[in-house]
Amino acid sequence: MSALTGIKKPVVNEMAEFEAYFSRKMRSKIPLLNIILNYILRRKGKQMRPLLVFLTARLNGEIVESTYIAATCIELLHTASLVHDDVVDDANERRGSLSINALWNSKIAVLLGDYLLSTGMHICVENSRYDMLEIISEAVKSMSEGELLQLQKARKLNIKEEDYFKIIISKTAALLAACTACGARSVSDDAETIQLMKELGENIGIAFQIRDDILDYEGTGITGKIVGNDIKEKKITLPLIYALENSANSTRRHIINIVKSRKKTKSEISEVISFVTEYGGLDYSELKMNQYRDKALAILDSYADSEVKESLREFVRYTTSRKK
Ligand code: IPE
Ligand code: IPE
Ligand code: MG
Ligand code: MG
Repeated sequence: MSALTGIKKPVVNEMAEFEAYFSRKMRSKIPLLNIILNYILRRKGKQMRPLLVFLTARLNGEIVESTYIAATCIELLHTASLVHDDVVDDANERRGSLSINALWNSKIAVLLGDYLLSTGMHICVENSRYDMLEIISEAVKSMSEGELLQLQKARKLNIKEEDYFKIIISKTAALLAACTACGARSVSDDAETIQLMKELGENIGIAFQIRDDILDYEGTGITGKIVGNDIKEKKITLPLIYALENSANSTRRHIINIVKSRKKTKSEISEVISFVTEYGGLDYSELKMNQYRDKALAILDSYADSEVKESLREFVRYTTSRKK
């Protein structure tokens, strides 16, 4: 049994219903679009975001129709962001298969991403859940800002730890914060509760992205993504930032030159990976990640013990120990 199966237990029926809901939205009368939507449906991800929506809803009340609306909308937006992300990152693999841009092309991936994004937003509109739309659209806006800031920094290779956190809060944590805020919003009007849940999601999101960036160096072989792709794409993440800041000038210049170069050999990429490991970049990132994990756990501690609280605790631990 995978860790996520256990975590899902309190909302297993809801997750099954969500899947049916999600599949229904992934259909179109345009044949090409339908083929691609089917391709995506057959390669589903971990579905951590909808799970987080249901668990936070359940933590604060009883799941209702609008919980499903939020979960579906958010998973569609997440899918859209991955399709666009692989164009931006020039990534050929996603979820262990070819990415949309690799299998079709970038034009199709851009348009498909737009389609998924608008379909997601439209679910809120057709159900008149403008409160959810407000939370979610704010997150989507933030994601675009984060991606653009990341591109700007990648061009100059001058990213500092502070910039890194700004980037990941916008591009990743904002959507996880929307998951927990919407989950709570679907069952409660209490502004304080919704704010607290938003903070929970943000902390989980920061930890989630740090783990993702560590995985890019670790290479477990099961992420379904290519090891070292961040380096290849001049994406300087926390492990590398820390290692660079703690190395001698000459070493730093040498590593930056590798990262800067347009074409990198396999051995150059391995050299950067070894450098980051040797200079403690992975250990430091792990330490930072665990600080956010603990902030998330502390927020959960303000709730009385229950099965769903334990699932959320497990969710947080899974986020920071996952191998894919
Ligand atoms: C990947 O998210 C994108 C990031 C924010 C790092 P997931 O790892 O949740 O992707 P899937 O949906 O399981 O493929
Ligand atoms: C994740 O960014 C995508 C979004 C947050 C939109 P990354 O580029 O860091 O993630 P992966 O590793 O490709 O999934
Ligand atoms: Mg990216
Ligand atoms: Mg990427």
